[in-house]
Amino acid sequence: MKTSLPATLPSHVAIVMDGNGRWAQKRLLPRLAGHRKGVEALRRCVSHCAERGVQILTVFAFSSENWSRPPEEVSGLMGLMASVLGKEAANLQRNGVRLHCVGDTSRLDADIRERLAQAERQTAANDRLVLNICFNYGGRWDIAQAAERLRLQGETITEASLGQAMALAHGPDPDLLIRTGGELRISNFLLWQAAYAELYFSDVLWPDFDAADLDAALDDYARRQRRFGKTGEQVRPGPARQEETHPPKEKNGC
Ligand code: IPE
Ligand code: IPE
Ligand code: MG
Repeated sequence: MKTSLPATLPSHVAIVMDGNGRWAQKRLLPRLAGHRKGVEALRRCVSHCAERGVQILTVFAFSSENWSRPPEEVSGLMGLMASVLGKEAANLQRNGVRLHCVGDTSRLDADIRERLAQAERQTAANDRLVLNICFNYGGRWDIAQAAERLRLQGETITEASLGQAMALAHGPDPDLLIRTGGELRISNFLLWQAAYAELYFSDVLWPDFDAADLDAALDDYARRQRRFGKTGEQVRPGPARQEETHPPKEKNGC
């Protein structure tokens, strides 16, 4: 994984890829056509993140709550996931992308579970970009499963132990959380990990989200001041801090 990132580039970007259904409905197409277009947008986004030097991309593909959709949409999404995994694994491999599936896989068909495991195995040695696909994922599920895991192991629940038991413990928390599709909500995504993420909302429907839209989000992030509870003065490189690093030269002779 690259180590020398510009300070203003997020190393971990998370995205709620929303708006597929509306994209299709605007064109009088079935909602699944929007989900298919959404896969193309994801492919573009993965390759642009890798080019820009983002290290981790975490995307919300199917939420714990999406089971409540009409059965034909749910089965369409399951079929799409299965076929995308079959087709894209080699592509990810070529591009140096390591895939992780994040979520409760126990409710998924054995076929999808096997394809996910296979894609994870196939890409396990890649280190250009980590792609976390959150599928049958919910932030509440993640917190509950982490707590249950600690309980079964007889471990004390602390912020640190809970964080380590979470589904995304293999990487740092997201720096930038983007939601497309115009809605201003989190919808049960990364409830724990997004504690200090910078939020960015775009009206663009996910299938239309392109490299320029991602660049706009990254540029916006670069202008943010991340304070993590401190004051602006504490984190801003001001004269005091500059003096610490470059003490004034002693004047000679007067
Ligand atoms: C997001 O797009 C993809 C999934 C939730 C699977 P939507 O399907 O929610 O699209 P809209 O919000 O209905 O337009
Ligand atoms: C969030 O989008 C889930 C995914 C993008 C996978 P939703 O479309 O399901 O969210 P709500 O229902 O509008 O909050
Ligand atoms: Mg939606």
